[in-house]
This record gives sequence, structure tokens and C-alpha cells, in this order.
Amino acid sequence: MITRVVSITDLKKQQDEMREAARLIRLGEVVAFPTETVYGLGADALDAGAVRKIFRAKGRPADNPLIIHIHDTGQWQKLVEEIPDSAYLLAEKFWPGPLTMILNKSGEVPAEVTAGLNTVAVRVPAHPVALSLISLSGVPIAAPSANRSGRPSPTAAQHVLKDMAGRIPLILDGGRTDVGVESTVLDLTKSPPVILRPGGVTVEMLESVIGQVAIHPSVMQPVQKDEAAHSPGMKYVHYAPKAPVVLIRGSLPKQMEYIRTRVSSELEAGKQVGILATDQTIACYDEGIRLSMGDRDKPADLAGNLFARLREFDDLNVDIILAEGVDEKEEGLAVMNRMARAAGFCIIDL
Ligand code: TXA
Ligand code: MG
Repeated sequence: MITRVVSITDLKKQQDEMREAARLIRLGEVVAFPTETVYGLGADALDAGAVRKIFRAKGRPADNPLIIHIHDTGQWQKLVEEIPDSAYLLAEKFWPGPLTMILNKSGEVPAEVTAGLNTVAVRVPAHPVALSLISLSGVPIAAPSANRSGRPSPTAAQHVLKDMAGRIPLILDGGRTDVGVESTVLDLTKSPPVILRPGGVTVEMLESVIGQVAIHPSVMQPVQKDEAAHSPGMKYVHYAPKAPVVLIRGSLPKQMEYIRTRVSSELEAGKQVGILATDQTIACYDEGIRLSMGDRDKPADLAGNLFARLREFDDLNVDIILAEGVDEKEEGLAVMNRMARAAGFCIIDL
């Protein structure tokens, strides 16, 4: 299959291109599209056969459920069973935006989408191309991140092409995504609601609207055996570049001292070493291949750059990546969650 990449720079003038993409969705095909978080790999959420194609293209385990993307709350009645008041409050405040709500599913949602669970994940993405694709196709769109399973999520159309060339017919290129990490996943079937995956809508932001939320222990720890069923996505290897990642946590001077020493020993062993640093620290290392995630005092910027930097290390052919830890506040929690998983929880605490 030939994978076409169509750049959408002016939605109004490019209605023909958008209608063609929507036609593919209606025909049960898979189309990659930009959202404000990362690129998604979309198909008609109500067509079980189309949804199976997503799993095949990604190489995704069938027991890891998908998020359904809708264009407004008018579309969720069909998908979910009971909508608590807190869900309406959150939708009002954060949709369109990087918040996914887990609610009880209706009978309309195929088991393929939810991996057999009786809950379903729903969100309204804040990207004009995504919203237009959902409207024009006239169906809710199930979409995981558009990477091959286990790889860093794509924040540019080129990342999607690298992972999906020959596997899907069309990629809509809407430029670099804004948030850079995937949406916050909030389970509203629990009381208090539980964050299963931190993202662009932060704990602080959620609590300002609905009061206390819990953070699932697996956000910063490997999944315990009996927790696997709760959010199936948590148990798999995620976001991994080709080289192993070591995440370093602790005071910044200690982190830097550790990284300097470790770089020297890795170089002596004949390894190419990558350092994932920040603007404040990058000039303080004089060996290794250094990339900055951005200003460590601006966690939203770190989130925006993280996945692209991990993919750059692939192109630089490093043998190991030493990653500085950042504060787990605001978007920093999402950044540390993704880095801990990219490292397969190989974490050095200083
Ligand atoms: O920002 C995003 O959320 C992106 C864009 C494309 O919208 N999508 C995305 O999808 O990150 P994916 O499939 O890569 O991640 C979905 C996560 C997985 O960890 C999955 O296990 C969880 O959401 N999930 C989906 N349905 C669930 C459910 N019913 N219960 C618990 N977790 C669920
Ligand atoms: Mg993903």
C-alpha cells in the first residue's frame, strides 16, 4: 500500500482533501490525523472491522482499548451510558482539549474499541483538522497515537510516516502538534475520579473544577500484577526509542554529577552516549551527544519536545540515553510518566 501524506495548511481551501479523508474513514479505512496532543490513527469507531485495522497497522495488543474522538458533547450520548455531573463540568471547561474521560459504555460501542471492558474512553480533540475529519465523516473516530506499538508517540507527520509507511493509505499533515504528550486519561466511574495517565490537563487544573482526584499508583511505578486490568495500556512497554533510556532523579547538582561520571564510563566502554538535558544544564556537559528538552521551568515546553527528542536520538544512533529528571508538577508529571516508561522504569534515584 502507498501511504500518501497530504499537508493541510488552509482547511477552508482544502475541503476536497478533507472530504477524501472522510470518505476513507466511511469506507472503513485508517487515516492518520493531527490532534493538539499527538497524531492519531483513526477509523470509524462503530465499525469493528475498521477498528481491527488500527490494531493491525500499529501492532497493538488487542487487550489495549482505544479512545473515541468526537466533535462535541452532542455525540457522546450514543457512546456512553450514564454521564455524571462532573463529566459535564469537565467537558464545559476542558473540551475541546487534552482530556479523555472514561465512562460506562453503551451497547453501540464495539468490544474491539474497548477491548471488552464495560467502560469507554472519549475525548473532543482541540485541532481544526481533527474536528473537521470527525464532522465530515459523520462518525465518532477511534484513534490511538499513530506510532508503531511501543515507540514514542508522533508529534509530526514525518514521525507517523516513519512508523506507518506502507501500512495506511493516508496521513493528514497538520504540522507539529502543540501539547506534545497524550491526553490526560481520567476514570470518572470511580469516586474520587482517578487519573490513569497524566497529560496536558494537569492534576491542578482538574482539581480546580471537580475537587479531589486520585492519581493511580502506576503513573510513576511499574504496574502491579492485579492492576493490569484497570488500564490495560499501563502494562506495556511505551515510548521507547531504540537505545535504552536511564532516567535520573534527585537534586539537579547530583543528577549532573552522576551523568558526567556515567558518560565518561560509557564512552570508555566504547558506547555512543546521548544526554537528554534541559536549557539550564546542556552547556554544563562537555562529552556525549546532547539534546535539550527545553526550559526546565516551563514544563509545557518540555512536554512539547520530549517525544521528538527521543526520536532524534534514534537518528543519532546512540547506544544509551541518560535522561535528566524534572519536577513532577503541572505538565512535569506527564513528562516524568512518559520518561519512566520510556526507560522501562530503569530509574536512578539520587
Ligand atoms: O492524546 C491522546 O489521547 C492521543 C490522541 C491521538 O488523541 N491518543 C492516545 O491513544 O494517546 P492511545 O491509544 O495511545 O492511549 C489510550 C490510553 C491507553 O493507555 C489505554 O489503555 C487507555 O487510554 N484507555 C482507553 N480506553 C480505556 C478504558 N475504557 N479504560 C481504561 N483505560 C483506557
Ligand atoms: Mg499510545
